[in-house]
Amino acid sequence: MPRRKKRIGVLTGGGDCPGLNAVIRAVVKTAEAYDMEVVGFLDGYEGLVDNKFRHLDLRDVSGLLSQGGTILGTSNRADPFNYPVLQGEDYVYIDRSNQAVRNYESIGLDALIAIGGDGTMAASAGMAELGLPIVGVPKTIDNDLWGTDVTFGFDSALSVATEAIDRIHTTAQSHHRVMLVEVMGRYAGWLALGAGLAGGGDIIVIPEIPYEVDAICEKIRDRNSLGKNFSIVVVGEGAKARGGDMVVARHVENSPDAVRLGGISNQLSAQIEGITNLECRVTILGHLLRGGSPTAHDRILATRLGMEAIHLVNEEVAGVMVAIYGNELSHTPLTEVAGRLRKVTPDHPWVQTALEIGVSLGNPIEIPIADYMADAVVA
Ligand code: F6P
Repeated sequence: MPRRKKRIGVLTGGGDCPGLNAVIRAVVKTAEAYDMEVVGFLDGYEGLVDNKFRHLDLRDVSGLLSQGGTILGTSNRADPFNYPVLQGEDYVYIDRSNQAVRNYESIGLDALIAIGGDGTMAASAGMAELGLPIVGVPKTIDNDLWGTDVTFGFDSALSVATEAIDRIHTTAQSHHRVMLVEVMGRYAGWLALGAGLAGGGDIIVIPEIPYEVDAICEKIRDRNSLGKNFSIVVVGEGAKARGGDMVVARHVENSPDAVRLGGISNQLSAQIEGITNLECRVTILGHLLRGGSPTAHDRILATRLGMEAIHLVNEEVAGVMVAIYGNELSHTPLTEVAGRLRKVTPDHPWVQTALEIGVSLGNPIEIPIADYMADAVVA
């Protein structure tokens, strides 16, 4: 009897970002080379729980490399262990992980590739414990996944944020204003710090370094006294004042992390205006950062990660997330990734570089940054 082809499932979970389609394309193309079939689940884990899928072949992925979003659709509300089901007017949450396993078996899958962020990796770690051979692929514009140096989507969002800051510069200069640019990133400051450095921000505030408004105003006044009568403040959406709280824009009821951040820059802007008497304006970039075509860097990264996922499936390595350290492909156990976030640390070269070139991170400059962070985070 001819040997049955291996059949691999693939899904994209969590918030979309540039590069998802590039991973799907690489998965299908590499699978073809190994004579494997690919089945794509629709809307993340929802597709596995509700048995929504489509077969994917080379024709389906033609032209996908440069396309943003995901042809499979995604969901950030579809945790199989805590699955929202509408009863009357309300949602109740039930464990549908066994249904997901039954669907996986009935389709005759040999492995599942789950492309996503921390929520998807946590769900995948749980499904792996139930016996599904899963390989994760790290996605997120936030770059906050544990167990890899970088996630695809981050570089694309960074480019958009940097271009936005470049554009804001002209108005800041012409009108002699303080311009605040707020970027996504959730509880990690990678996007704000990276875009702040790349876009020449004068002040960068990130969640990991609770800011002191006086330190920010001092920096702005210093610039004005040097004749630079405008300032750019790059704000991570999860930033907060020392002793203060993050600003929550809304709660998304049936999402694994219900909190949606946004709006801290409005608060900060009012404080800066109150203290300095300078005119401020706020731009919140929001979902603009997640849209559009992936950068060349992300296309290459996504392609390598997708290819490596199939390599691991072929070698029957499972329960891991594909990772990249330096420029080398690797993998990390899902159990290590789940429930952890990779945040900006005081010794990170981007932090050191920002401080050395005189960028304010909202900290009082007389206190060493590591000491300040250790102290301010618990305050
Ligand atoms: O995790 C990616 C991300 O874009 C975060 O930066 C942001 O806080 C969140 O998702 C927004 O989620 P939603 O698309 O549900 O509003």
